Order: sequence, then C-alpha cells, then structure tokens
Amino acid sequence: MNTDKIIFSLSANKKLAKQVATSLNIPLGISELEHFEDGELIARCKSDVKDKIVYIIQSTAAPATENIFEILIFVDALKTGGAKEINLVVPYLGYSRQDRIAKEGEPISIRVIANAFESNGIKKIISVDLHNPSIKQFFNDELVNLSPTPLFEKYLRDKGFESDLVIVTPDHGSNSRAIELCKCFKNTTVTYIEKRRSAPNKSHIISIDGKFEGKSCVIIDDIIDTGGTINNAVNILFEKGAKEVYVLATHAVFSSNRIDKRVKGIAVTDSIEKEIPGVDIISISKLIIEAIK
Ligand code: R5P
Repeated sequence: MNTDKIIFSLSANKKLAKQVATSLNIPLGISELEHFEDGELIARCKSDVKDKIVYIIQSTAAPATENIFEILIFVDALKTGGAKEINLVVPYLGYSRQDRIAKEGEPISIRVIANAFESNGIKKIISVDLHNPSIKQFFNDELVNLSPTPLFEKYLRDKGFESDLVIVTPDHGSNSRAIELCKCFKNTTVTYIEKRRSAPNKSHIISIDGKFEGKSCVIIDDIIDTGGTINNAVNILFEKGAKEVYVLATHAVFSSNRIDKRVKGIAVTDSIEKEIPGVDIISISKLIIEAIK
C-alpha cells in the first residue's frame, strides 16, 4: 500500500473516491461531516495526514455552496494535521459557467472559487471537461483538465459505431469537444448549432447547417442541466430527417430530467454521482487514476 499519499471523499463523490483509492492502493482516509443545530457545518479529519500528500475527491455540484465549503474547512483541518501537500480532484467544477460578466454588476464567480481554493492552501486542482478551459487564467497553480473523449469513443464503439456519424455541437462552447470526438471515427463530420440564451436556463436555436437525412447523430455537450439545450438540438435533428440521435454529456447536473424520449442512447459520466433512469453512466475513475499516478 502507498502510504505517503491518502485520498479523502467528503459528501459528493464517495463511490468514485473509493474506486480510485482501491485501484491505486492508496488508503482512503476517514472524514467526518456534521451539522450543528443552526445548520453550521463541522468537518473532522480522523486519519493521520502528517507529512502526506492528500487528494480530496469532491465535485462542487448542487448543493454547490455546501460542497465548496466542505472542501474549504476540511483543507484547514488537513493543514492543522500537518499534511505535506493538499490537492483537489473536482470532477465537476461548479460555478464554471459564471466565467464572465454577462450583465453589468455581476461577479466572475469562478474567479472567487479559484481564489478561495488556492489561498486556502490547495496546490493542484484536477478537473474533468471544464466548461471553458480559459478559466485557467483565474488559477495561479496547476489546473488539470482531463478529457472524457476516450470514454465517449468507447461508448459509441460499444454501440457498434465505427464510422459515418454526424457529431453535433448544441452551441459553440462544445466545438472543440465535437472536433476531438469526430477525429476518432472515419467518415464523420461535425455540425454546429448556433444557440442564444434569452434568460438563465432558457435557450433557443438560431441556425444549423448540414445534412442529417438518414444519419446517426451524436450531440455532445459538457453539461446537461435543465435539458433545454439538448432537447432543442434533438428536435431540430429529427425535423431535418435524422435516423437516430445519441446524446453524450460529461456532467449530469440534471436539475430536471426531461430529455426527449426519442433519443436512442444517452450517456453521462459519474463526475456528479446520480442515478438517472434511462441514462447510461460512464465512470471517470480511469481518468482520475491516471492523473493521480
Ligand atoms: C452551456 O454553455 C453549457 O455548455 C450547456 O450547454 C448548458 O449548461 C446546458 O444547460 P441546459 O441543460 O439547462 O440547457
């Protein structure tokens, strides 16, 4: 067993942390989280962390504020315990969508999160499929962005696809994801959808180009939240004659589960631990294991 390192889970990714620790033969530390009567949180580190390299595995999806605060106070407990180095694996980095000022008077919330993590003593941050990789500018230390493309490629190959797909980006933010996936398959093209947001959680399609008649289409996105973006894309693809539509998304925020029933297969990863009926879950454990190695 590798005893100069130790892995902790807090509330959000217990299963994933256990898989990663077991596979790497690194001890899974004991953390304790409790609430006082007034709702205040207390975190305790119950394992010896003196002179150890620590990895906390915790996504900051809903309840995002609580999950972020768990990390912050647990890091303080680790420092008190004499940890040598504290790293954070945050497969889904909440607040990443607040990466710019959309309306006057707004903050750049992901910058606040970056400052809070780093000033608290977290050295390296490992995430998966960042909403916008340019948020690295807000982090002074290393922010690793793991790509889920190999996992999605395998998913599609397991479904029997080798070639002749149309990979669809439901908005410009997913262009690089789609191009990466497209390169894995022969005779496959990328099609771009132009989307506009009229208000938070409300979007509509402005334009789409390409040939879909009789085609197998794969929509790829980083996040499914309300499902609005995906459903708009599914709709237009069927209107334009698609034979079948698959959906791939890394982070299953799923604040409502209303994905169009005509979708033939939908896969998300376990960056956010959730059971979603009718949705295939692909584990990111392999990616995290390689990154920690
Ligand atoms: C937005 O830029 C993201 O990449 C996703 O497309 C978006 O967050 C999905 O949200 P929803 O499911 O609510 O449309």
